[in-house]
Amino acid sequence: MHQPERADAARRTRKQLGAWYTPPELVDAIVREVTFDGAVTVLDPACGDGRFLRATGLPTQVGVDVDPATSYIHDDALSRDWGAEQFDIVVGNPPFLNQLAASTTRGGRSRFGGGPYADTAAEFLALAIRLCRPGGRVGLVLPQSLLSTRDTAAIRDAVDAQAALRWMWWSDTQMFDANVRVWAGVWEVGGVQREVQRAFGPHFAPLPARPRPTTWAGLLTDASPAAHAGPVLGDIATFSVDFREQYYGLVGAVSDEVEGPPLITSGLIEPGRCLWGERPVRFAKQRYAAPRVAIDRLSPRLQRWAATRSVPKILIANQTKVIEAVHDPAGEWLPSVPVITCVSDDCDTVLQVLNSNAANEWVHHHAAGSGLGAGTVRLNPKLLAGIPLR
Ligand SMILES: C[S@@+](CC[C@H](N)C(=O)[O-])C[C@H]1O[C@@H](n2cnc3c(N)ncnc32)[C@H](O)[C@@H]1O
Repeated sequence: MHQPERADAARRTRKQLGAWYTPPELVDAIVREVTFDGAVTVLDPACGDGRFLRATGLPTQVGVDVDPATSYIHDDALSRDWGAEQFDIVVGNPPFLNQLAASTTRGGRSRFGGGPYADTAAEFLALAIRLCRPGGRVGLVLPQSLLSTRDTAAIRDAVDAQAALRWMWWSDTQMFDANVRVWAGVWEVGGVQREVQRAFGPHFAPLPARPRPTTWAGLLTDASPAAHAGPVLGDIATFSVDFREQYYGLVGAVSDEVEGPPLITSGLIEPGRCLWGERPVRFAKQRYAAPRVAIDRLSPRLQRWAATRSVPKILIANQTKVIEAVHDPAGEWLPSVPVITCVSDDCDTVLQVLNSNAANEWVHHHAAGSGLGAGTVRLNPKLLAGIPLR
């Protein structure tokens, strides 16, 4: 193989195994927090070259890795029969692969209570808690998406029920090659939840300790979560989103050449502005200049759906850095999945709230890390309905 081909092949294998190696500063920061007096045994279930194990300096170091080149135990930690084995410390930087990417090796299903799109890292967190003895500690590097994605909610609840978060670190900068923003947590299994010690950024700057927020996503924001008991957007507006049925139901009815309502995708929505007709659109793998939906080509059921959407409304992009909402006062547009539709008798107030700094801070506080890009959040109807009306 030539040099570039070899580099390419190595990158592919690394991606398949989720193998991005942890910088020594991050290893040291986690090891400082996870080690404790009296600890003897340590496990890294995705140990790579064993850097976490060595850094603990503990006498009994057990490492597992699915990579056949490993000098530790060669096995798949997630399907290994661990029997009743438990360790004083479980530590590491598990692979971040979503279940679909991992499906070739593990059937694409979660063994630890996560949904079909739960990240493998969440499975490793559940496994680590199970393999750590009561009173022991778990310290893992994890993707920030794990803080708020729906498919990992059951795993977050199970962790909360069994362990107390002692310390956490996160960074907005990329800490290693993987194109994912990360955080790290150290838990005490069976411990009592007290204030969480915190550090931030590439230099691990200490931040003041704070009480555990009610949501995991709240861990990434600096302010304490202000409990909001007053009125919320959901009191004056309804938010909803469409699903597969509407997405696939529209295929075949969308065209640049037909009469009918314009189809509005997330990419066309900017704060206060819709770029339909100005920016090309991708829908169902095809590109359109100004797509419209031919209502008469829809099934009767989808025609009824289109009628319910053809009302004055606000459309909101689902994945953004700032909330992007646009008004459709004449009810002329049809939303494309996963655009969020908001219907209200008081659209002016709703738009004012959605465009406010306070609303943006609120959604970041509750859904930080859920989006795909840096600093983006994935919005959903429940999240938007909960925004305080100030
Ligand atoms: C992000 S790397 C971390 C390696 C090392 N712990 C470090 O911090 O540098 C993830 C490691 O997990 C291994 N891995 C992936 N899937 C695994 C599995 N199911 N069981 C055990 N190891 C796995 C990969 O081979 C890779 O070495």
